[in-house]
Amino acid sequence: MRIGILTSGGDAPGMNAAIRAAVRCGTDLGLEMVGVRRGFDGLIDGDFIPLDNRAVGGIIGRGGTILRTARSAAFLTPEGREKALEQIDRNSLDGLIVIGGNGSLRGARWLSEEGVNTVGIPASIDNDIPHTTMAMGVDTALNTVVESLNKIRDTAISHGRAFVVEVMGRKSGYIALMGGLAGGAEVVLIPEVPVSLDDVARTVADGRRRGKHHSIIVVAEGFAPTDRPLDGESAGHAVAAHLEGTETIETRLTILGHVQRGGSPTAFDRILASRLAASSSSWLAAGKGGVFAGLDRDKVVAVPLSAMDEEPANVDLDLYRLVGVIST
Ligand code: F6P
Repeated sequence: MRIGILTSGGDAPGMNAAIRAAVRCGTDLGLEMVGVRRGFDGLIDGDFIPLDNRAVGGIIGRGGTILRTARSAAFLTPEGREKALEQIDRNSLDGLIVIGGNGSLRGARWLSEEGVNTVGIPASIDNDIPHTTMAMGVDTALNTVVESLNKIRDTAISHGRAFVVEVMGRKSGYIALMGGLAGGAEVVLIPEVPVSLDDVARTVADGRRRGKHHSIIVVAEGFAPTDRPLDGESAGHAVAAHLEGTETIETRLTILGHVQRGGSPTAFDRILASRLAASSSSWLAAGKGGVFAGLDRDKVVAVPLSAMDEEPANVDLDLYRLVGVIST
């Protein structure tokens, strides 16, 4: 069997470890592994490269993806999708591994419904994949956030300032919540929980009255305050500007941005990537596509790709409340 493998959407640390494991497990099962460059764009263009065991050597600790990635606009069109199916046929692919986030796994679902033996591997720092306790890349990104918060706290304490730290998560507050919890934030603002800027200012002012000289407010980029439209500015800007305006505390803003997506994957992400990829190759070899490799607590499970219709449930509101309690 000839199996294609591609990485798609936003990159996530661990993608290379997954490519390596998928290729080597596939080879072990007698599969011929083929890399598809630039995600679904490369599938449409037929941008394929052979991947043997040596081609994936030395990459387990590298961030990003050696296959490169894309947020493919073409694959959202009927013409693009038709071309992708033609390339799969022309290049005699018997199966495909799609490594990526939400949109990518929905693409995998479509291919599977068109009869392509397809398996997905969840990779997204947002941790917003249903039926998956942890997607690949989340742990590394969280560690980056916590390391940054540690550094920011040093300067926040020294100057007695408030720091608003904007983290990724357009629709998901997972990184903000877990990063804020692990990083000792006073306030966490996420898309899932509506809060007003006045409430944020009140919480910070209350902390001042209780003798807190500094504050860390972690804001997911997708947070929308209830009392003010964002008007083109980022969520972090809005929160920082509002706090500064109250003159309660001198405030600075740090937007962590894409540093959260880079870097060498943690041990957790390397092991997770290797386990998810190993299962994916074996399911494809057995012709059991139509699923993605989810993590149910510590077990790798085959989740039907149709589950991508469901809402993810990884943001735990009890932990959200816990942040408020343990930061007092
Ligand atoms: O999909 C993950 C993610 O990191 C989001 O949290 C973020 O909003 C987005 O990617 C940024 O994507 P891009 O790199 O395309 O700007």
